[in-house]
Amino acid sequence: MNPGSFLSGRAGTERPAVDFSAVRTLLGPIFRHHRGRLLLGFVALLVVDSLQLTIPQLLRHGIDSLTGATATPQSLLLLAGLVLLTAACIGIFRFLWRTMILGFSRHLEQHLRDRIFAHIMIMDRAFFSSWTTGNIMAHASNDLTAVQMACGMGMVAALDAVVMTVAAITLMLLIDVRLTLIALLPMPLLIVCTRLLSRQLHQRFDQVQAQFSLLTEFARTTLVSIEMVKAYTLERMQERRFDELGSRYVRSNLRVAVIQGLLFPVATLVGNIGMLLVLYFGGRLVVHGTITLGGFVAFVSYLYLLVWPMMAVGWVTNLAQRGLTSLGRIHHLLRQQPLLGDQEGVPATLPPCRPRFVFDHLRFTYPGTDRPALQDICLEIGPGITGLTGPTGSGKSTLCRLLLRLYPVPDRTLFLDGHDVNTLSIAAVRGLIAYVGQEVVLFSDTVANNIAFGRSGAGQEEIEAAAKAAAVHEDIMGFSDGYQTMVGERGVRLSGGQQQRIALARALLADRPVLLIDDGLSAIDVDTEQRVLAGIRAHLQGRTVLIVSHRINVLATADRIVVLEEGRIRARGSHRQLLAESGFYRAMMDRQRFDA
Ligand SMILES: Nc1ncnc2c1ncn2[C@@H]1O[C@H](COP(=O)(O)OP(=O)(O)OP(=O)(O)O)[C@@H](O)[C@H]1O
Ligand SMILES: [Mg+2]
Repeated sequence: MNPGSFLSGRAGTERPAVDFSAVRTLLGPIFRHHRGRLLLGFVALLVVDSLQLTIPQLLRHGIDSLTGATATPQSLLLLAGLVLLTAACIGIFRFLWRTMILGFSRHLEQHLRDRIFAHIMIMDRAFFSSWTTGNIMAHASNDLTAVQMACGMGMVAALDAVVMTVAAITLMLLIDVRLTLIALLPMPLLIVCTRLLSRQLHQRFDQVQAQFSLLTEFARTTLVSIEMVKAYTLERMQERRFDELGSRYVRSNLRVAVIQGLLFPVATLVGNIGMLLVLYFGGRLVVHGTITLGGFVAFVSYLYLLVWPMMAVGWVTNLAQRGLTSLGRIHHLLRQQPLLGDQEGVPATLPPCRPRFVFDHLRFTYPGTDRPALQDICLEIGPGITGLTGPTGSGKSTLCRLLLRLYPVPDRTLFLDGHDVNTLSIAAVRGLIAYVGQEVVLFSDTVANNIAFGRSGAGQEEIEAAAKAAAVHEDIMGFSDGYQTMVGERGVRLSGGQQQRIALARALLADRPVLLIDDGLSAIDVDTEQRVLAGIRAHLQGRTVLIVSHRINVLATADRIVVLEEGRIRARGSHRQLLAESGFYRAMMDRQRFDA
């Protein structure tokens, strides 16, 4: 895999513009839902801030009582006790706001994650061709984290900064106005420095995340295609590429560490410039008796308390900006509409039917392309077995996808029992069909659960009956744990034919009125094929079956056969008829005999 391609998928659908309507629509409801928790958190935060501001006052009191020689051991003990109590209260309330507000940000993250997932579930194939997996994953990880950070620590730091700045500066002004102005002189420099550094930090952190995605994606694809890697003896090369990606990841982490290492020293340095000014000018004020020593100590403490809010200003603006941009991107994703949707007022269920699909001069072009994949299709697919064949790329799978309602069809071109499918519920139409795809999909689960996928709650007997009909029961009994054998990732423990038959058993167990097999018998040997076909026939009972196949034996058992070529119906009839009448079909069959 080209590592660049994984991330480049993101560029096409990225929407960096800040979108304030997203805040209202996406965050509004969740903020309202958790308003109690938020209120409690913010009150606790304010309590922490006010308690922090009282400690310098206590110190001032203590020192002034010492310098004024009014202190007694009891009064000092009381003061120390008060400081300790304040510190304990700070700890308790800090715990409270952290659990409330940071907890809220996690709920918010989960809420958005669920919305993204639910939205992706309703999207159609057209969406997935323009939004790559990497792109969707980026939204579900980086963007969500950015929003969570902005709504958690970002909000806290913003409120904290405002409260602490206003309060500390007010209290400093109360001690001495001129000294306050002098102490604040280096503060703008601190804001600028942290803003620049934190922007750098975020950019570099993005690079770390990008490198990490590349590294994990590389490991994932290598593991998934491990057989291919070994077959081409690429182990050493993969190792080298992995090492290279790993080194880049470490380098990007080190670049982050540089900025992290700089941030606090720079802040302390700038903060200490203020301290230098205060020591010099404030010291003189103490010497001249303009302010007391206690006042001076309190002033210095407030200055210390100011350093963090000043740093936070730079940090928070970056965090908020990133959160808004990410939220805009999530909003953009959530606003994507499937091309395919139920018309308004469509009943959720279908009247009982014996499914008969009729295509009437259907022409279908894939979204984003200009050559029709199917044209002028007039065809009836009713009870019994219909065979569908034709050269590769002739439109067989496309026809199946339209039956499955995976793409929109023009009005009045596809009917189910006389109803235009566009006037029926998509889910209800899909619910009629048991589908075996061209590419078998098995889950990392037991064989039994893989078969029962289409009908949850199926009993062992039913599962076995379906497996017998699909001629895979004996294979399964030969596995170490029988039906409880785990199917590895992508079914690596099973042969292609076994996988296809398990997928067929799944479809038979689903017991739906329509069975749609898109080339799902291609990897099954000729003898087994006969048993599978007998199983399907036994299952038939007036059902509608469509089998896409190139195999003579399969087509020969079909009641009628349709031959597609370049998106058009080239011939139709029984196997016998076609052999007699269609040169095209005969030539196709002859080639197969010859190939065999
Ligand atoms: N998602 C898609 N977007 C655009 N074009 C597509 C898409 N899927 C298939 N096509 C095009 O539609 C045409 C028919 O493809 P289809 O998959 O239906 O062929 P097929 O008959 O099933 O072939 P095969 O026997 O190889 O499975 C081909 O030209 C193919 O390139
Ligand atoms: Mg196909």
